[in-house]
Amino acid sequence: MIANTEEDLKHLKAIGHICAMTLKTMMENAKPGITTGELDDIGLEFLERAGAQSAPQAMYQFPGATCISVSPVIAHGIPNDHVLCEGELINIDVSAEMNGYYGDTGASMVVAKHVPEYEKLLAAARSTLEKAVRVAVAGQPLNLIGQTIQEEAKRNGYGVIFDLTGHGIGHRLHEEPTEIFNYNKPNDRRILEEGVVLAIEPFLTTGKGHIHEEQDGWSLRTIDKTIAAQFEHTIIVTKGEPIILTI
Ligand code: CO
Ligand code: CO
Repeated sequence: MIANTEEDLKHLKAIGHICAMTLKTMMENAKPGITTGELDDIGLEFLERAGAQSAPQAMYQFPGATCISVSPVIAHGIPNDHVLCEGELINIDVSAEMNGYYGDTGASMVVAKHVPEYEKLLAAARSTLEKAVRVAVAGQPLNLIGQTIQEEAKRNGYGVIFDLTGHGIGHRLHEEPTEIFNYNKPNDRRILEEGVVLAIEPFLTTGKGHIHEEQDGWSLRTIDKTIAAQFEHTIIVTKGEPIILTI
């Protein structure tokens, strides 16, 4: 959507903040011994108390309020009775709706332990998102986002997941502009409009960057079982610095 009224801004900020706080609460509770199902319950309770509704549940009948992916699953992991263990690489993705507006955020983390190999990947994925957000300026090519993501991944010694993309968001969870690629696509001629609301979500990996859907019909893992990390923010594009809604 294009956010062009005070009303839009107010509602987008509200749901963005709820998503961010839900994610933060879940990350704080992602400790050894808790199941991903219990962690999802914490997220659901937080969303409901804030007056928001889980987007994947409402829109796609996803069997959970949030997506919790345990490596080598990297996205759309179903919360279940898996007990989190020290040193596991996980991703939590929270998207929700309130008053007809959507927010979407995500983060990867290591459970309760220093794992240098994972932390290096996390740091690179986090800095990639920061850089990608900064190049999202009204009037600039949308492809600058993917180009920046791929360059920053490469500079840190990683590849990107080619099969997962960012997306427009606002009045729906996924809307125009669809497919904000995580790599350079020079023939993509789209230009960023002022006020456009985007979810930018780079996935960095040590592998070849392709994914496979598990038997459960949701969980996506890397095809080569390599590790991957994602960070995601919902933003409003402006002529200058974007407005980051999910912090
Ligand atoms: Co997300
Ligand atoms: Co998203």
